[in-house]
Amino acid sequence: MRILIINGPNLNLLGQREPHLYGHETYQDLETRLQDKAAALNVEVDIRQTNFEGIILDLCHYAQQEAFDGIILNAAALTHYSYALYDAIQAIDVPVVEVHLTDPKTRKEHWRHTSVIEKACIRTFSGQHFKSYEQALDFLHTNLKTAHKA
Ligand code: DQA
Repeated sequence: MRILIINGPNLNLLGQREPHLYGHETYQDLETRLQDKAAALNVEVDIRQTNFEGIILDLCHYAQQEAFDGIILNAAALTHYSYALYDAIQAIDVPVVEVHLTDPKTRKEHWRHTSVIEKACIRTFSGQHFKSYEQALDFLHTNLKTAHKA
């Protein structure tokens, strides 16, 4: 099983960026944790981070071309306004699980309360810091064969 993990804008700054919200662990710590979890599940992961919306769209298309089994996507702020990302997720057959470190729906900025990509994704895990990603990996590992897009 091959899973593409995509991390969007500003997630490269984990550890330095608003640590009261996102914690003190770094982006490298996140990658290490995900590699360990994937190894335990015997899942192959390809982990990417980019600050560019178009590259995330290209990565969705790449997952389709390369026949990945699933995508775990933390689209960061793009979650809240990128209709292009919604369309990209709809355009591919690869199931996408949305993840967030925090729970955007309970944060103080109202614009975070809406995810424009949520309906194109098969599931969302949020508010559990790195564990949100681990829950997404467990979910895909267990459900991939029966997962269907809405
Ligand atoms: C985030 C939540 C988003 O609202 C925010 O823009 C991020 C990170 C999270 O993982 O909690 O950059 O996706």
